[in-house]
Amino acid sequence: MRTPVFAANWKLNHGPTDARAFLQRFISQTPRQSDRTLLFFPPALSVAAVVDAARDRPDLLVGVQNVHAESHGAFTGENSVAMARDAGARAVLVGHSERRHVFGESDEATGKKVRLAVDAHLVPMLCVGETLEEREADATEAVVLRQLTAGLSSLTDTEVASITLAYEPVWAIGTGRTATPQDASSIHAVLRAALRERIGDKAAHVPICYGGSVNRGNAESLLLSPDVDGLLVGGASLDADGWSAITRSAIGR
Ligand code: 13P
Repeated sequence: MRTPVFAANWKLNHGPTDARAFLQRFISQTPRQSDRTLLFFPPALSVAAVVDAARDRPDLLVGVQNVHAESHGAFTGENSVAMARDAGARAVLVGHSERRHVFGESDEATGKKVRLAVDAHLVPMLCVGETLEEREADATEAVVLRQLTAGLSSLTDTEVASITLAYEPVWAIGTGRTATPQDASSIHAVLRAALRERIGDKAAHVPICYGGSVNRGNAESLLLSPDVDGLLVGGASLDADGWSAITRSAIGR
């Protein structure tokens, strides 16, 4: 019912020249796989290069790491959903923990970005996740549910069914400390239950990816866990060979 998603978030890495070389090598090692969705989130300046390098591989989709919460205007340095779509993006990360915690993105802004993304026919991948402090205070469920509710606040039920979610515990991002498959599964189940409450059976259509120190060694055990429908990967997606290997992981469904 849900196609597993393998998403590479390159963060502030791989300009257009590197991105082209990456795609060339990645494509040479990665046959088309119809049973999974492969997504690249390069920096905005490299989106066109990745789209171009993947032009003969319609199975490779490209997204942007962020968009502005307004559609146009005097916002120096920002990118809009329409520009992202025009450049060939099909998806957008919203509410990534670095946007929330480094750049101060509010829950309200994530809701606006998700709305704009859906209107522009970009699939939002809404990211939620708790900090270590919040986890230690037993606030994980409250935090991710608050982020989920705010992110989806302006969508209709049908629109909610068309998005993708990512659970990325902040303490696991770039730290080498991965949530166990059980940790991931249990929060994914909480998110799934919240979606079911909101949109009923259609909740089964929403892929929920896990992110946070995913690597070649732990990818399969995460993917084989209940309710883990894909991976959102930072550091381990920066090397073409390594990322190709991860995208060829067994998915067992
Ligand atoms: P790492 O895989 O480097 O921990 O980053 C995870 C992440 O933030 C992906 O969006």
